[in-house]
Amino acid sequence: MRELDDRARAILTGNDRGGYTVPTRGLYPYQWNWDSAFAAMGFSAFDPDRAWRELETLFAAQWETGMVPHIIFHEVDPGYFPGPDVWQTHRQPPTTGITQPPVAATAARRIYERDHDRARLAALYPKMLAWHRWFAAHRLDRGAVCIAHPWEAGRDNAPDWDGAMAGVDSSGVGEYTRRDTAHVDAAMRPQKIDYDRYLSILYFGRDTGWDAAEIAANGPFFVADPSMTFILLRANRDLAVLAGVLGEDSGEIEGWIAELEAGAETLWNADGEYYDSRDVRTGTFANSLSCASYLCWYAGIDNRRMLEHLRSVLGRVRYGVPSYDPEGPEFNALRYWRGPVWGVVNFLIADGLAAAGHEVQADRIRADTRALIERNGFFEYFDPLEGRPAGGDNFTWTAAIWLIWAGRD
Ligand code: GLC
Repeated sequence: MRELDDRARAILTGNDRGGYTVPTRGLYPYQWNWDSAFAAMGFSAFDPDRAWRELETLFAAQWETGMVPHIIFHEVDPGYFPGPDVWQTHRQPPTTGITQPPVAATAARRIYERDHDRARLAALYPKMLAWHRWFAAHRLDRGAVCIAHPWEAGRDNAPDWDGAMAGVDSSGVGEYTRRDTAHVDAAMRPQKIDYDRYLSILYFGRDTGWDAAEIAANGPFFVADPSMTFILLRANRDLAVLAGVLGEDSGEIEGWIAELEAGAETLWNADGEYYDSRDVRTGTFANSLSCASYLCWYAGIDNRRMLEHLRSVLGRVRYGVPSYDPEGPEFNALRYWRGPVWGVVNFLIADGLAAAGHEVQADRIRADTRALIERNGFFEYFDPLEGRPAGGDNFTWTAAIWLIWAGRD
């Protein structure tokens, strides 16, 4: 245990590039939005100053619109594609034109509760509020949070997007060279057809000059997503608590909470009886029981039927929680978001379960995560059936959740 604690801290400090942390060397050489929030939580366990700094660096790249970008290209690295020349957001430092799951307010609350640095919290608060306001203004469909690109959900190639992605015309993307498959086995990564469509959606946004209203109205991909909806709902609950700490009025935030609670129920797939992704363009559900479905507790929503699904899925894998239903037609134990276990998502799911009093499931998920890390080290993701490691090694967020959760008693 102690040895793994030391290794986890060494991964965080080793991936520190001075004020921001890369997810892992090589494969992901920049600052990623939600990875940074987890990195900040990890740093909070031993270096609160550095934890705040991670969030401050992230919000320094916030757009005037309030959006906080999904990648910040601090130092251009030819080993990653698509880089700033492709996104063309014309910003300094360069960024992508899309966002990622808003975990930052939840991270800020965690850090604050450790060191009570009111001044640093007060400086971040209006920025977090502006980001959440941007979601409320541009990204809600019937109260559920929509993604305009699969990368926004942070679950890049989840089966959730297959239906909506099939409608994306990628005939005009032309030639390009991927870099990810130079770092990691191609069988563990998205496929070429996925990448063609990722780029096609990116080009649409770029051609609008990254106009959020135009993207919401006419973008080729717009899907209401349970992970974004549940994570923003939770982030708003945490932001409301922080508003209280600072003596700020939380009325606007309470309004968003009510709207998101109603929005979450529009994601209920009555046929499968679970929370599902909904294609806004066609109105159809994805029919995908995924790890995002189990984030309801993290958002403060207890659901008996979801607990039954979770029990059943945990009964069918050696290591929970698989990112996609192991009995679903698209299940693949090693391919990215189509089956593998992701430690950070496990942390969020278990955090919610424990708060709702579902200790048995919360403990099982923590024990599984711990066993995967003890056996393999701090990999990006893991095979839920045989426990094999996958993706990048020495991963920041896997180390972070070890320090604050998986490696604790
Ligand atoms: C992948 C993941 C995404 C993560 C990024 C950096 O794109 O799907 O969730 O933020 O890698 O780790």
